[in-house]
Amino acid sequence: MHVGVLVKEEACTLGKSGSKKFDALVTAMLKKVKPSQSEIEGTTRIANQIMGLLKESAPKDVEILLAGSTARGTQLSGNSDIDIFLLFPKSAKKERLETQGLRIAKSVIDRRKNERCEIKYAEHPYAKLFLEDAGVTVDVVPAYKISSADERATAVDRTQLHNEFVNSNLTQRQRNCVRLLKAFFDGHGVYGAEAMTEGFSGYLCELLIYHYGSFLQAITAFSNVNVPLVIEAKKRVEMGGASAEALVKKFKSTFIVIDPTDSNRNVAANVSIESLARAALASRALLKDPSKGTFYRSGYSDLDANARLSALRKGLGASTYTIHFVVPDIAEDIIWQQLKKLSSRLGSELSSNGFVTMLSLQSLHKREALISFFVRDAVIKAGIAKGPSVFMGNAASRFVAARRNSHLISLEGDRLYAIDSSRYATPKALLHAFISEKSSELPSYLEKKHMRIYVNSMPESVAKLVYQAYNGRKIDYKL
Ligand code: UTP
Ligand code: MN
Repeated sequence: MHVGVLVKEEACTLGKSGSKKFDALVTAMLKKVKPSQSEIEGTTRIANQIMGLLKESAPKDVEILLAGSTARGTQLSGNSDIDIFLLFPKSAKKERLETQGLRIAKSVIDRRKNERCEIKYAEHPYAKLFLEDAGVTVDVVPAYKISSADERATAVDRTQLHNEFVNSNLTQRQRNCVRLLKAFFDGHGVYGAEAMTEGFSGYLCELLIYHYGSFLQAITAFSNVNVPLVIEAKKRVEMGGASAEALVKKFKSTFIVIDPTDSNRNVAANVSIESLARAALASRALLKDPSKGTFYRSGYSDLDANARLSALRKGLGASTYTIHFVVPDIAEDIIWQQLKKLSSRLGSELSSNGFVTMLSLQSLHKREALISFFVRDAVIKAGIAKGPSVFMGNAASRFVAARRNSHLISLEGDRLYAIDSSRYATPKALLHAFISEKSSELPSYLEKKHMRIYVNSMPESVAKLVYQAYNGRKIDYKL
């Protein structure tokens, strides 16, 4: 229970004068984010062609379903991604789904048209078709045909139910609001549920618009958001009190949007608290000044990245330590999680050796990965080790006996402490030891032999990635 002085916050809303500006912005942005009639026709034609081909090579008991945002009228213009599901009867074995499903998908590509197919492994494998000439990618996902979530065998089985929910519950106007919300989140780096973004998925945007009613209402709600936020999307209600607390426990999250097609699923599960906070700040800035400049986050030039980073270092009184390496070609989500893990481990090593990290960044771009620390400049000659209470007999004796080389052993109250020479004189020495010592284990896909450490300046291509990561983390909203 939170106890303290409660300050009544004034809610962020759009003033009278803002309302006209907001409407004008929405009209202008909708022109950009909504695909034109001809774009929609083009996508539909390709989708129909591929579906026709899939139908020809699929057995009779497999249903072909167009899913995702193209099927729901919530896709963004220029988004050339088509999702097609192959729905197998529930009696089919999982192996049949995988082998036959992927075989059917592969059979429709035409090499003469610059088409190719890659098999991807999410929780469950699917095929990604690259139709280069048409400029379109098609995900072909084998799943089971179900009519309610309790029949589902894999996570992707829900998608057909999502289709159904959105298509029967969202008005045309609301689908345009979904487009605005997706584009807005995308502009602020929080669109997409993948590990690298930890943001809002397309389906989550659809549910938020359904719940709040419109883009403006969603933005207003996010401006004033507080956790826990527990939305029962099917009923369009927000829960509070004991029922909210129970769900926070159940889903182990403070931002919950219950899937109307499956009460055991939190559609917002992948949204990090930072992404939710960023969405709140971006929404406040948009209400304060509804304009293109606040709808999209302003871009930064990444020319002269080394020079920009150097200026930043000077201002911070810090140096950068960047570990750069190549990673294997496996699922981005997995590599990203390992990168975060390694970064936080190195961060705590730095901190326990007396170095102060002011900012730590990670970046993953295709097969290139890096971790970069901005560490406050300081000469660390010695560190403090806290010991036990003198009244703990043996432990106290052991502490003293083990410290023959300490500069100083002393007492703080009844507790011993020692000042020892530091193991690493510089962050570089520490990081270097970590990536070259046999004893330190790195996450499985991050290989020491590929790693290089740069202190301050680095090749410009690496500096660009560091600078982009830095900009991605910045909070620069006019509030
Ligand atoms: P997409 O990632 O293609 O999303 O997944 P989308 O809704 O089509 O949005 P955009 O416009 O391409 O960005 C397709 C469908 O798969 C299900 C959802 O039903 C989604 O609409 N899905 C996808 C999930 O349930 N969870 C996920 O994490 C991803
Ligand atoms: Mn899609």
